[in-house]
Amino acid sequence: MIETLIPKHVAIIMDGNGRWAKRRNLPRIFGHKEGVRAVKRITEHAVKRNIRYLTLYAFSTENWLRPKEEVSALMGLLDEYIDSELKTIIERNIIFKVSGQIERIPENTRKKLINAIENSAGNSGLTLNLALSYGGQIELYEAAVKFTKYCIENKINPEDLSKNDFRNFLYHPEIPDIDLLIRTSGEKRISNFMLWRISYSELYFTDTLWPGFFEDEFDLALDDYATRQRRFGKTDEQVK
Ligand code: FPP
Repeated sequence: MIETLIPKHVAIIMDGNGRWAKRRNLPRIFGHKEGVRAVKRITEHAVKRNIRYLTLYAFSTENWLRPKEEVSALMGLLDEYIDSELKTIIERNIIFKVSGQIERIPENTRKKLINAIENSAGNSGLTLNLALSYGGQIELYEAAVKFTKYCIENKINPEDLSKNDFRNFLYHPEIPDIDLLIRTSGEKRISNFMLWRISYSELYFTDTLWPGFFEDEFDLALDDYATRQRRFGKTDEQVK
């Protein structure tokens, strides 16, 4: 295992729960349940590998359009996840955050999320950022609205501000851009995920379905990342 060049921020599009269940002739929710187990082991492994930020795409703004039974089953799993993981989050010194339209999450679950956020805010280890009711376009749109209001209220000419000033209006501006983006299940799409923060991400795609994603494959993705030359638009000679 290559220990150098550990990405500071890893994000994962956790795809393939439904197909995992279908292949076993099980209802889709069984795939999501198994997906939660993967969330727990991969978070644990991220702590072990000294990753500073882990963003997991758990529910998109578009996922609200799934059959209502599936949506409520996913919210139920989220509830159970917080109930069972809060102790581990605290013990492992994890800072728990949520990115997305948290106001759309049912109240009972939302309260649990807020409790986990508040109780882990003083921690100093891995930041676990759950993308929940998250959409990249809406994040940018909301940031643009807030940025405009800020300029009007403070009588600032927007042209006097920079893209970094704009960035401050995204969800959790303290979370850096994504170094490594992993997508499971063989699909090669971005699916409206973290559009600002993936500008220079290294991409890693695997055919493995999310419930079958284990620590060894996470390590393979990290090893692969360590071999990449990140140029950020510069030439090979410039970055050497
Ligand atoms: C994609 O699989 C996965 C999701 C839409 C939800 C991801 C959710 C989890 C991993 C479980 C919930 C997480 C927490 C933290 C409680 P899919 O259903 O689109 O799979 P398919 O493409 O094979 O149908």
